[in-house]
Amino acid sequence: MTSKNQLELLHKECRKCKECSLAETRTNVVVAKGNPDAEILIIGEGPGEQEDITGFPFVGRAGKMLDSALNSVEIDPLEDCYITNIVKCRPPNNRKPSLEEVKSCIPWLDKQIDFLDPKIIVLAGSTAVESFLNIKQPISKIRGEWIEKDDIKVMPIFHPSYLLRNPSKEPGKPKWLTWQDLKKVKKVYDSI
Ligand code: URA
Repeated sequence: MTSKNQLELLHKECRKCKECSLAETRTNVVVAKGNPDAEILIIGEGPGEQEDITGFPFVGRAGKMLDSALNSVEIDPLEDCYITNIVKCRPPNNRKPSLEEVKSCIPWLDKQIDFLDPKIIVLAGSTAVESFLNIKQPISKIRGEWIEKDDIKVMPIFHPSYLLRNPSKEPGKPKWLTWQDLKKVKKVYDSI
């Protein structure tokens, strides 16, 4: 079976998941969107309201912000990337997912990564960094520098929701810093 088919099967299974209590309140399991052959994997925190309704990640306001940040460095969100979250079901009221919820959900992400075999992972926000890298550091300290994990280049960036709350594009501000971080991603992407 090709890894694309394996990924599709995995997603089918994932949509039935009842491993944690988020299954009781979700509308849809939000598995992924984008290109399964992409070299770049983007990982966010968890679905919000629009994602829960549609079943696709990053389709609400934060998603539009992510799209425009990627577009600004000529990365096509749906062609060049595969996009998912740490937890696949919406935490009620968009609260941060609990440690138990992350623990029960992360095997889905691990398997997605096995089948996708990405060269670059972009971690959007501190929950993604903490859950995926086991590093508890403010995102402002850790963003913008490459981290190597299992031969994959990992770039932490600010979460797009944070950029919505900090819209200034002035040099040194979060939006400008994210632009610098994504330029680094584009440079590596162009070299592979
Ligand atoms: N925020 C996330 O982290 N993921 C989404 O899918 C939407 C908003």
